[in-house]
Amino acid sequence: MKILVTGGAGYIGSHTCVELLAKGHEVVIVDNFVNASPKSVERVRKISGKNAELYEGDIRDSALLDGIFARHKIDWVIHFAGLKAVGESCAKPVEYYDNNIGGTLVLLQAMRKAGCKKIVFSSSATVYGTPERLPLDETCRVGGTTNPYGSSKFFQEIMLEDVYKADNEWTVVLLRYFNPVGAHESGLIGEDPKGIPNNLTPYIAKVAIGELKEVGVFGDDYDTHDGTGVRDYIHVVDLAKGHVAAIDKIKNSGVHVYNLGTGVGYSVLDVIHAFEKACGHKLAYSIKPRRAGDIAACYADAAKAKRELGWQAELGIDEMCSSLWKWQSKNPNGYN
Ligand code: NAD
Ligand code: UD1
Repeated sequence: MKILVTGGAGYIGSHTCVELLAKGHEVVIVDNFVNASPKSVERVRKISGKNAELYEGDIRDSALLDGIFARHKIDWVIHFAGLKAVGESCAKPVEYYDNNIGGTLVLLQAMRKAGCKKIVFSSSATVYGTPERLPLDETCRVGGTTNPYGSSKFFQEIMLEDVYKADNEWTVVLLRYFNPVGAHESGLIGEDPKGIPNNLTPYIAKVAIGELKEVGVFGDDYDTHDGTGVRDYIHVVDLAKGHVAAIDKIKNSGVHVYNLGTGVGYSVLDVIHAFEKACGHKLAYSIKPRRAGDIAACYADAAKAKRELGWQAELGIDEMCSSLWKWQSKNPNGYN
């Protein structure tokens, strides 16, 4: 099949392109490089030995999208393009809603014009807000998001559901990612955050190479096995394969919602210790106050994806840390 991958130069998008090409799909990427480098696309081509056609531009540019749909008979769109930093979204809500919601609206219009009615959307466990219960399954309450990034994901899910309600020929797949981490085993592609990372594993990796002094552990008084926050970390390659499973397996129109997680929760200290094993030395850390807006624990019930898509995560915390370490040590400055 021919897949249009928006945001295909980004962290999850690049790994997904590799898995799509490995399965014989054709890939067309559109990315404006607001948070990515064209080098990631070159490396995707290098890993797969195949071409992925690249259009540099913004998905809010309807003429660009119309042109792509006119040149290519697209079977599915996998829609990664969006801004994703929670803190930044609180400072720049207008930019976040414009890019994320505005981008999705222009994309949906272009798809409708071209008669392409199949979309996989990058959603997030953030749509569950404060978890109603754990583990989180797809029937848990959504909403109650606490920042513009999370709200944009929640609204985009609603928009896509409404598109299906109005036209039952659409196939809408909402994939709710838990915490994607790690990198491709080649060490050629990985996450390349700009500036000081906000998320845990890229921060740990920067401490491990000596670029940052110590890991701040945000709170050790949560109701978890060691008091630090627990999350469902999922290897980005497993996550990428979840997208391929979705487009290969889903044949019926409708709205299909899946959690993509492992179902296993690790604490901040568990992750630091797993990373020490991967990099072969001790990592400095100190306990800091809780980070505003954090929850104690968040992990998935991933049974639905296994049952219906035949997909489950195969890689564990050790592979997540060792692949991230390989990427970080081979590319200390990311793609620069
Ligand atoms: P990323 O920033 O690496 O990838 C997003 C890509 O989209 C980037 O390459 C960026 O340049 C591009 N982009 C952004 N706005 C664009 C626009 N208007 N037009 C064209 N390209 C544009 O982020 P990622 O971690 O790969 O995340 C991909 C998707 O998954 C995002 O929608 C994100 O919100 C979602 N998600 C990510 C996580 C996570 O922890 N990484 C968790 C849940 C959901
Ligand atoms: C965060 C976002 C979430 C987004 C996800 C993308 C918030 C509140 N949530 O999730 O919306 O989808 O990133 O991956 O920002 N931690 C530390 N020290 C650090 C960094 C993090 O102790 O320097 C802890 C956090 O308190 C948390 C865990 O590590 O317990 C994971 O944090 P992080 O990687 O930022 O992810 P989330 O907060 O789960």
